Amino acid sequence: MVAPNADLPDEAATLAFGAALAPCLEPGDRIYLFGDLGAGKTTLVRGVLRALGWSGRVRSPTYTLVEVYEVSRLHLHHFDFYRFGDPREWVDAGFRESFDGPTVSLVEWPQKAAGTLPPADLEITLIPSGSGRSASWRPSSPRGTRLAACLATNLASPSSPS
Ligand SMILES: Nc1ncnc2c1ncn2[C@@H]1O[C@H](COP(=O)(O)OP(=O)(O)OP(=O)(O)O)[C@@H](O)[C@H]1O
Ligand SMILES: [Mg+2]
Repeated sequence: MVAPNADLPDEAATLAFGAALAPCLEPGDRIYLFGDLGAGKTTLVRGVLRALGWSGRVRSPTYTLVEVYEVSRLHLHHFDFYRFGDPREWVDAGFRESFDGPTVSLVEWPQKAAGTLPPADLEITLIPSGSGRSASWRPSSPRGTRLAACLATNLASPSSPS
């Protein structure tokens, strides 16, 4: 089966994609974001957070490893493992356990922490496409199947929030 995908011709489209995903999120969901440097992963997370009502800044967690948000009804962790070195660092900080609790995890560069992260529910990949991007996604659990169905519905009718 061909993976579902969406054309994202500009930054606004990536933000809208994140906004379509936002109302689908439930406590405990794990969403892993793939794509090269500059692919638009942080932009997608910004779209999620804005749609949930976050009005503050959305910083890239490249240097901090994680940014933590309490927004809408959700406790959300935005990780970036690009510079990930010592797994003990974040195990000691208690972040490994957060993946098994009610926290929503949105993870950039999960492949850099392969072996220490639990499996994703939904994997989203962003690749360059002309001057824009193309997104594809793949569910890998019942949660992921729910997320993908909700995402598809919201992308089909972006003006009617669920
Ligand atoms: N669909 C799009 N079309 C064109 N530009 C986009 C699109 N989505 C995002 N961008 C732009 O791409 C740039 C990089 O985006 P972003 O920081 O989100 O990438 P990233 O995948 O998080 O990179 P990194 O791996 O370095 O964290 C930004 O300037 C953003 O505005
Ligand atoms: Mg980023």
